[in-house]
Amino acid sequence: MNPAIRAVVRKGIYDGHQIIGFKRGFNGLISGEMVSMSLGSVADIIHRGGTMLHTARSSKFMTPEGIAEAVSTLKGERFDGLIVIGGDGSMRGARAIADQGIRVACVPASIDNDISCTDMSLGFDTALNTILDGVNKVRDTATSHERTFVIEVMGRERGFLALAAGIAGGAESILVPEIGVDMNDVCDRLLRGHRRGKTHSIIIVAEGAGSGFDIAQQIRDKIGFETRVTVLGHVQRGGTPSALDRTLASRMGAAAIDALAEGAVAAMVGVEGQRMKSWDLSHVLSQKKEFDMETYELAAILAI
Ligand code: F6P
Repeated sequence: MNPAIRAVVRKGIYDGHQIIGFKRGFNGLISGEMVSMSLGSVADIIHRGGTMLHTARSSKFMTPEGIAEAVSTLKGERFDGLIVIGGDGSMRGARAIADQGIRVACVPASIDNDISCTDMSLGFDTALNTILDGVNKVRDTATSHERTFVIEVMGRERGFLALAAGIAGGAESILVPEIGVDMNDVCDRLLRGHRRGKTHSIIIVAEGAGSGFDIAQQIRDKIGFETRVTVLGHVQRGGTPSALDRTLASRMGAAAIDALAEGAVAAMVGVEGQRMKSWDLSHVLSQKKEFDMETYELAAILAI
């Protein structure tokens, strides 16, 4: 998110706008906690994870009164538009603000990568690389001790992070909510591998598909393999942004400024292939991002 904030501020000022940042997400809109953003205010943040403006899951904003207070802040200060950086919940909030007459442009940011109309959302690639770093390290001990490891990753109700981590990490099985968990298949794969001399295995489970501890227990109960569990948790959400995320954030932040300048009422910027596009926000929110079955099946073939 920091490289996206930097891009919004720098491109906005370059184009002649005044940029104000709100602290702590929608909470800052409600309380009017704002800071004037200068070119220098976003210096030295491009390589930092998180957000210099802080963020929050705002329960007050979920109420009609909260939305009214946020809109009143924006109208009182006569803002021309609002740029929201965040995931599905943030974009639904932005939609509610747009419904009250404030123009909005959203930048998709979520390690879950579950937002439609964009190949990637910010944070996904960085989280993926963090997971792979963990998988590589776990693999060292898995091979040395000849054990099976279950690694649980985030993703909320979707399996995009697990799929990407599973194929890039060479996992034996990838368990995602879109497909469901078939323990017979997981155990068959482990046994088949074992018969041909494999002494260690990595299983990636998306948090939305079940608990890593439950999966490991079922493996022990069914086939008696010694199994260890790693839940990567919030380490997936931090760390210096990858080159891909920094570039994407820079392009998306600038594209959000352009979208508002071009008259967007409620938009989300997204990347399709190498191209930046602007979408109608209601359309984005009405779509469910499709799971990549082709890659999922390929991962199963490669882990045979
Ligand atoms: O949506 C991003 C995400 O990291 C999910 O993958 C995860 O389920 C959730 O947020 C964790 O949220 P919190 O930090 O509020 O527990």
